[in-house]
Amino acid sequence: MKAIVCPRYGGPEVLEFRDVPMPEPAADEVRVRVMATSVTSADSRVRAARFPPGLGIIARPWLGFRGPRQPILGTEMAGIVDAVGAAVTRYRPGDAVMAFPGGKMGCHAEYRCIAETGPIAPKPEGLSFAKAATLCFGGSTALDFLAVAAVEPGERVLVVGASGAVGSALVQLARHRGAHVIAVCSARNADLVRDLGAGAVIDYATTDFRGEPGAYDVIFETAGSMMSREALPLLRPKGRFAAIAAGLPDMLATIGAPGREGRRVIAGPASEKPEHVQELADLTASGVLRPVVDGTYAFDAIAAAHAYVDTGRKRGSVAILLDPAARD
Ligand SMILES: NC(=O)c1ccc[n+]([C@@H]2O[C@H](COP(=O)([O-])OP(=O)(O)OC[C@H]3O[C@@H](n4cnc5c(N)ncnc54)[C@H](OP(=O)(O)O)[C@@H]3O)[C@@H](O)[C@H]2O)c1
Repeated sequence: MKAIVCPRYGGPEVLEFRDVPMPEPAADEVRVRVMATSVTSADSRVRAARFPPGLGIIARPWLGFRGPRQPILGTEMAGIVDAVGAAVTRYRPGDAVMAFPGGKMGCHAEYRCIAETGPIAPKPEGLSFAKAATLCFGGSTALDFLAVAAVEPGERVLVVGASGAVGSALVQLARHRGAHVIAVCSARNADLVRDLGAGAVIDYATTDFRGEPGAYDVIFETAGSMMSREALPLLRPKGRFAAIAAGLPDMLATIGAPGREGRRVIAGPASEKPEHVQELADLTASGVLRPVVDGTYAFDAIAAAHAYVDTGRKRGSVAILLDPAARD
């Protein structure tokens, strides 16, 4: 089968379109013919070995010193089951599915195997493979941080980076929980985030959103533009600062008891729960969650998609089509 291989860290030009062995499903696995996948900020970070401040020293031993130990990137996919292991009972060849191997990656390939009890769910009917393939990276991160921050109805929630993959899911899901969402983005994305459910929008280029002490119950920071020492004074008592793009200093700030008046910092990798995939499929099928797809690229043009994601300016997600029919 064909796969996009990242043999060493570097720019998009390091990616190679290669023949690799076809995976065979284990007894409890299904093999999915990938119709669509995505290039996420995580793919861009891993390919470039570009990590938040202080994390490079931890990330390289974990991911690989000269290049990623898992050389096929890609955290999420949607496709059609084409083979099943002997013990599989939930899926049959021909089933349309979406899946989120997450940090295990391996979705930038024509086929990927995944356990039937793992992060996989039937694709909602009527949702294109391209859209289904972009739901999980931002959606699962948003679900996890919303749960840890325990957002309550009526709370004032600031989402910094509201137009990205994680931010666009956070705006929609926080609103669904009954929060009043204030979105921080640039002017060109104001209409988009209002449409997704933001009650107010702050343009970071013209307005300093750090100006109002005690204004928010929760701040979700996805742009890496603010650290906990700046964020904590903006919180009400018992407020939570979720540093989703955190570097080491904010991760260390999570250690120990909550700070003054119960304000606390949340940071670190999101938990990738298999059940998130079904939850995201259900939220989409019921119209609560709308996937935001910025653009689509052909499989063999994935380097161009990486170059675009590297800019840090994408809106929502970038989809990669392995089959042109995935767009519909
Ligand atoms: N902790 C975890 O487990 C976890 C999981 C997933 C992602 N992350 C991290 O979370 C961050 C966001 O991920 P993502 O996939 O959502 O990124 P993304 O989609 O690449 O974010 C792009 C968006 O960020 C906006 N943006 C850029 N600079 C901004 C600023 N200064 N203020 C406000 N918005 C700004 C851009 O809008 P404009 O063009 O309008 O500026 C663009 O729409 C990344 O650092 C990623 O590594 C962490």
